[in-house]
Amino acid sequence: MIILKLPEEIEKMRASNYIVAEILNTLKEKVTPGITTGELDSYSEELVRKKGAQPAFKGYMGYPYALCISVNSEVVHGFPSDRILVEGDIVSLDFGAYYNGYYGDSAITVPVGKISEEAARLIRVTEQGLYNGIREARAGNRLGDISAAVQDCVEAAGFSVVRDFVGHGIGKKLHEEPQIPNYGTKGRGIQLKPGMVLAIEPMVNEGTYQVKVIDNGWTVVTEDGKLSAHFEHSVAITEDGPDILSMLN
Ligand code: MF3
Ligand code: CO
Repeated sequence: MIILKLPEEIEKMRASNYIVAEILNTLKEKVTPGITTGELDSYSEELVRKKGAQPAFKGYMGYPYALCISVNSEVVHGFPSDRILVEGDIVSLDFGAYYNGYYGDSAITVPVGKISEEAARLIRVTEQGLYNGIREARAGNRLGDISAAVQDCVEAAGFSVVRDFVGHGIGKKLHEEPQIPNYGTKGRGIQLKPGMVLAIEPMVNEGTYQVKVIDNGWTVVTEDGKLSAHFEHSVAITEDGPDILSMLN
């Protein structure tokens, strides 16, 4: 069942998502050669608690950290650790907050210092895929319109869309219906309605879309060891079109 949100609930979700957006923005500035992924995690937790919110991921299904931080060939759910970021790495920061009874969820991929042109293009295309998907998140459209828009953008650039992990509805729970694949067919799937709030989150690989989970039971990596990028926004569908809740302005 898809839970529609009232306008006042969407405003509460905007507050939760604003906290996430601010924290991602702060973390992004901190990403430089020499910092460890564990330091970024501790900092994210300190920041979210200072805002009177809870880290959404910590303890969720047993996930042990506040932040998911996925480096290079890690796709999602990377564990923070004493790994030191080095120039040329690309790093996905995925963060969630629980505030006011509602969840916020967003992710970005950022460069560490100077990166290769191919890595930069992967990041740009993934973010563009997200925005193309968001553009289709309007009442009367279908879920497949979002999925197809993401997929078309990514594949036209010669990259691939991860199949095994998808976006999701979000609200009083972190993961609600519907599931939102980043591949699919225009005109297919459920019809989108005002009040739906969707976390759209393309995971895009440089090479094959095939992924595997490593033996920590969480971290997803590319099967071929090539790069992966991830962007996510929580988006409300309103009468006036998509409203990106996890945005700073
Ligand atoms: N943005 C991811 C998601 O929506 C993060 C979840 S990590 C978890 O699925 F640890 F909370 F599962
Ligand atoms: Co999510």
